[in-house]
Amino acid sequence: MEKYLTERGEELRSLNEDEFEPFVEILGKAYPAMKIFTPESKEATKKRMVDMEKDTRIHHYGLFRDGVLLGGMRFFDFTMKLLSIKTGAGGVGSVAVGMLYKKQKVAFHLIKFFLDYYHAQDIPIVTLYPFRPDFYKKMGFGYGTKISRYSVKPASLPAYGRKSGVSFLGKSAEDEKLFVDCYNRYLDATNGLNEKNSGDMAATFHNNELVIAGYRAEGQDQLDGYVSFTFKNVHAENFVHNDIIVKELVYNSSEALLGLLAFLQSQADQINRVIFNIQDSYFHHVLLDPRNGTDVLIPPVSHESNIQGTGIMYRITDTKRVFELLANHDFGEQTLKLKLDIADSFYPQNAGPLVVYFENGLATVQPETASYDTAISLDIADFSSLLVGSVEFRTLHRYGLATISDTRYLGAVNRVFQPEMPPMCMSLF
Ligand SMILES: CC(C)(COP(=O)(O)OP(=O)(O)OC[C@H]1O[C@@H](n2cnc3c(N)ncnc32)[C@H](O)[C@@H]1OP(=O)(O)O)[C@@H](O)C(=O)NCCC(=O)NCCS
Repeated sequence: MEKYLTERGEELRSLNEDEFEPFVEILGKAYPAMKIFTPESKEATKKRMVDMEKDTRIHHYGLFRDGVLLGGMRFFDFTMKLLSIKTGAGGVGSVAVGMLYKKQKVAFHLIKFFLDYYHAQDIPIVTLYPFRPDFYKKMGFGYGTKISRYSVKPASLPAYGRKSGVSFLGKSAEDEKLFVDCYNRYLDATNGLNEKNSGDMAATFHNNELVIAGYRAEGQDQLDGYVSFTFKNVHAENFVHNDIIVKELVYNSSEALLGLLAFLQSQADQINRVIFNIQDSYFHHVLLDPRNGTDVLIPPVSHESNIQGTGIMYRITDTKRVFELLANHDFGEQTLKLKLDIADSFYPQNAGPLVVYFENGLATVQPETASYDTAISLDIADFSSLLVGSVEFRTLHRYGLATISDTRYLGAVNRVFQPEMPPMCMSLF
């Protein structure tokens, strides 16, 4: 990749180990909740960065003016399941700008560099968790699947699963392998998940508070599902009043799901509530009583069951390339000549018309002058959400966020982009 210089001649480049120190200083003030104030906590954060870089998929970059670091960030080279393929995907986290240098377009250049960095590696999709969704929407990131928080009485979980298939995982290399194999099979069968990296594994296997219960089908060695969780005391004056906080719920069969839920159900005499933070808006169907304990009644008569949050965001940086990567993906078995007019003010090289022909679901990019049945226009943020499957075209059209030149093709365009399931993300970054 070419050297990245801003219009003021500031340089964006990788941070060496000595430069972690000023980055830690910036991080401490950008994320006060991380409590990086004491020399010990600063040293520990720096050491964590050094350890992270041992995983060749994690990198630190920063913007320098006259040799002074003004802001930095951390990149994650993901392998993502995107619809029916696996692709490289870039992730960015810990974006932080020095307090003295705010509103000088430092973040603007950090993010532009982030897009360039992965684009130069032929990776046309990037992702992040926003500190503020609107900040990144403006930069062309589209919303992913919302997280639902269900807070369920254990007795409301189904009890009829095969609980005897559940056992705890230890911290051994063998158990780690079983765990990763199980997750990878789940990844293969779903949409959006990233392969786990060393940071994910450390958060799982070096966290002594985390309990992992795995499910095996009868006579099987491999795990068919697992639930990882911690306990949380929820009563200041009652140490036996605890919730279970589920970190991950992964299952490759309904038998595994039901076995794991039966295991959680059987904690009813000891556990107050089981908290699930999951990208599954249908989960209330499996619960006997989906109410979350607030007793809020939304008029006229709807019982509060889960709260939701919007988090993970996606951005396509090269629309043409993403269709090339998805050459063997079945876009809803549709046959359609489609022109896409994508607005991309933040990354203009990705803007403009693109003609894609879908033949029985298979996409091929055509010359710009090729004829087409219908043209759609939308912003890159909404297109990114559409492509990954977190929103339907019909919905974007209904909201006026997308237009179509010939509405007779509305159904066909909707089917082109309708995923089998919305994307999920369990990576913390
Ligand atoms: C949030 C934070 C990173 C912002 O950094 P910053 O350097 O002050 O932000 P910038 O000056 O680069 O602001 C972004 C600019 O991009 C511009 N921009 C965004 N999308 C654009 C687009 N499509 N076209 C043109 N410009 C665009 C914005 O308008 C803004 O410029 P403006 O202020 O002139 O309007 C910084 O305040 C910070 O470190 N906060 C604490 C830590 C944090 O919350 N980090 C984020 C974690 S994900």
